[in-house]
Amino acid sequence: MSKRLFNFCAGPAALPEAVLQTAQAELLDWQGKGLSVMEMSHRSDEFVGIAEQAEQDLRDLLTIPSDYKVLFLQGGASQQFAQIPLNLMGEGGSADYIDTGIWSRKAIEEASRYGHVNVAASGKARDYFAIPGQNEWQLSDDAAYVHYASNETIGGLEFSWIPEVGDKPLVVDMSSDILSRPLDVSRFGLIYAGAQKNIGPSGLVVVIVREDLLGRAHSKCPTMLDYNVAAQNGSMYNTPPTFAWYLSGLVFKWLKEQGGVESMARLNDAKQRKLYAAIDASELYSNPINIADRSWMNVPFRLADDRLDKPFLAGAEQRGLLNLKGHRSVGGMRASIYNAVPEAAVDALVAYMAEFEKQHG
Ligand SMILES: Cc1ncc(COP(=O)(O)O)c(C=O)c1O
Repeated sequence: MSKRLFNFCAGPAALPEAVLQTAQAELLDWQGKGLSVMEMSHRSDEFVGIAEQAEQDLRDLLTIPSDYKVLFLQGGASQQFAQIPLNLMGEGGSADYIDTGIWSRKAIEEASRYGHVNVAASGKARDYFAIPGQNEWQLSDDAAYVHYASNETIGGLEFSWIPEVGDKPLVVDMSSDILSRPLDVSRFGLIYAGAQKNIGPSGLVVVIVREDLLGRAHSKCPTMLDYNVAAQNGSMYNTPPTFAWYLSGLVFKWLKEQGGVESMARLNDAKQRKLYAAIDASELYSNPINIADRSWMNVPFRLADDRLDKPFLAGAEQRGLLNLKGHRSVGGMRASIYNAVPEAAVDALVAYMAEFEKQHG
């Protein structure tokens, strides 16, 4: 018998066990058709049905308005760092970006290759421990759009509010917090999310884009990167990552069975409260993020003495608590507690943290 341990990986992250079981059961013979989803033509009625159902379930989960296209693309979220300016910035244009940490800086760096980037606000002066308030943002008049990352997966900062940017299209990297709570999609011009946290397997990226933003691509934009081409071809201009799309569809179905994003929000809130409470009550662990900006999805924490990191991680692994090591750029620990990470995983982690503190605190 195989065993499933508690996986706190930031991504590719834990998937719901029920989804993996369905995929396993259907792997050799999808619904009596005698073949795997991986072996089907993407043009077949069967796969088109899988793809359309996945899109519909995502639309239901996020109440996506009908004037938005949902695209299932390749290249992960990082490719969007280029694809967004190539489609939305205009030739020689400019855009406003908010800098809240490593992922938003990567987006800034890439967009700078295609036009002028105005960093309208930055968390740098506060060591990226807080999100700059909207009153500090210096938006520019000629920006084609405003970009931010709603959750900094490495730093552990998350916007608990949606920025107000007037009539500019608001563009958000929601890779690590999409579907973790309800969302008013109509406030955005474009939402993108790499799949490997709350959606499905890596490599796939979901883009939700308002229709009026299509058809604006740079004349040199590669065909494969033009949102309009993707939209007109149902995200099948070329062969899409069919298995990742199918698996994401199973995750959407699972989310609906769990009660949708409202239920996820209640569960995620309970999980994050428990974990931050344990950190804040301890003498050994600490999290530096401004309390209002703490991420519900990625909880970084440090031990008072770095020399305890190794024994902490070794003990965690012995207890079946996997992937707690922080990102190599910041060190310390990080517990990623996405939708598919059950509350029992957080309970087990909190219990282990208390036990470790008793021994080493
Ligand atoms: C917020 C955020 N944006 C972008 C990325 C890059 O995603 P990908 O590896 O799919 O390109 C990540 C990856 O972890 C992320 O967390």
